[in-house]
Amino acid sequence: MILESLLPLAYLTSAVCFIVGLKMMSSPRTAVRGNLIGAVGMALAIGAACFDRGVASHALIAGSLAIGAVIGWILAVRVQMTGMPQMVALLNGLGGAASTLVAWSDLLRGSSHPVDTLIAVGTTGLIGTVTFWGSLVAYAKLEELKGFREPFSLPGQQVINAMLVIACCGLTGVLASTHETSVQISCYIGIVVLSTVLGVFLVNPIGGADMPVVISLMNSYSGLAGAATGFVIDNNGLIISGSLVGASGVILTRIMCKAMNRSLFNVLFGVMGGGKAGGPTDAIYATVRSTSAEDVASILDGAQRVVVVPGYGMAVAQAQHAVRDLAKLLEAKGTTVEYAIHPVAGRMPGHMNVLLAEADIAYDKLKEMDEINPTLETVDVAIVLGANDVVNPLAKTDPNSPIAGMPIIEVDKCRTVVVIKRSLSPGFAKIPNPLFAAPNALLLYADAQKALLDIVKAIKELG
Ligand code: TAP
Repeated sequence: MILESLLPLAYLTSAVCFIVGLKMMSSPRTAVRGNLIGAVGMALAIGAACFDRGVASHALIAGSLAIGAVIGWILAVRVQMTGMPQMVALLNGLGGAASTLVAWSDLLRGSSHPVDTLIAVGTTGLIGTVTFWGSLVAYAKLEELKGFREPFSLPGQQVINAMLVIACCGLTGVLASTHETSVQISCYIGIVVLSTVLGVFLVNPIGGADMPVVISLMNSYSGLAGAATGFVIDNNGLIISGSLVGASGVILTRIMCKAMNRSLFNVLFGVMGGGKAGGPTDAIYATVRSTSAEDVASILDGAQRVVVVPGYGMAVAQAQHAVRDLAKLLEAKGTTVEYAIHPVAGRMPGHMNVLLAEADIAYDKLKEMDEINPTLETVDVAIVLGANDVVNPLAKTDPNSPIAGMPIIEVDKCRTVVVIKRSLSPGFAKIPNPLFAAPNALLLYADAQKALLDIVKAIKELG
């Protein structure tokens, strides 16, 4: 009994931990501690929930936690850095599914729910199910599974989607206005079925290039579904943590839209991936000049200021340690080495920051796009390391390009640009990149890690 009266205090403490943890995560110096404080808050919230009056079986909870922990551990250990967006999509989806199931089980308990709780039940069914199916479609698109590679929509798709939302709201109204459990359950099943269709219809027309934004939006939805579930089971911890996830997901979505120069409306309802390929590839690449590790070593040897632009290829090659070794070598010779970070470089928010931090590269050497762009004219050598779309000038010059208007790292302004990649294959947006054929650009065809090791060796041989 005493423990139960302490529950609100425990939830309040966990909410404070979440907020302090989030605040600390906004700086790399305090991020690890912030993450730990957030985890402590979550452990406290889960522990407190176990003392709730409504808990039917502690054994069932312990068993589920153990199974979930083992599956989560295996997935987290096995996932490649490049597969993180898919993993996040699955986690968001499972959050939505959990909310839907909790609201469902609460409904099954009987008909003594007040109207506001029943409205929360319907809302949870809608948002939770949309999150689950939307996230699964996003996963399938990122994995490029058959049937999901191309965006697909029906004629009048937006009207159909609006009607589905209205139908779900109508069913929620019926659910909340009756005391008949069988009618409530039928309405809930109806909401889940319609929301399933809605979740698929909402994400299917969106092209793969916009999936990062969709995933962060689904993250926000999963938080909102959790908050709605908190109203269903009267759990303050869930309401607060769900709201925090919902709000932070919206903020991240806005940041990513800005980085890709897209409005959220345009991402959700615009036709994406339909842009032109940017001209015949052979003509664009006619003047590409290739180079060797030895030549790059000579160029770097005389450079005062070098900027590395990391991209997805650095993650694939796991070249972050090799790039640190090259930077140390150059810095020992008096060269300034910095890193230009595009907000959507790689395949997840903060992807490059995480990899470079893993290689112990000092955080103050990482410069955000807006900070470094105005200074690029004074850079002697830019090393474009497995990056492609984030340095593609077509974003500025071709209004028909799928990445039109996306801000880029303007390496074309640097005196020399060394592009390290294995071939002339396109990046995520599947378009050619005229930068590779620019008069100041040189292509080093190689795996990013191997190329850097060869350059380091060649610089050492230069003495
Ligand atoms: P991309 O444009 O995808 O280009 C990556 C390049 O890396 C490819 O052209 C590839 O060329 C090269 N590469 C692959 N493996 C390599 C290796 N082992 N060694 C050297 N190079 C290698 O990457 P980006 O410039 O980082 O742009 C990111 C793109 O992904 C954007 O379009 C963005 O919108 C999208 N996206 C971003 C996110 C987030 S949140 N960051 C999530 C999903 C999608 P080769 O095959 O010729 O080597």
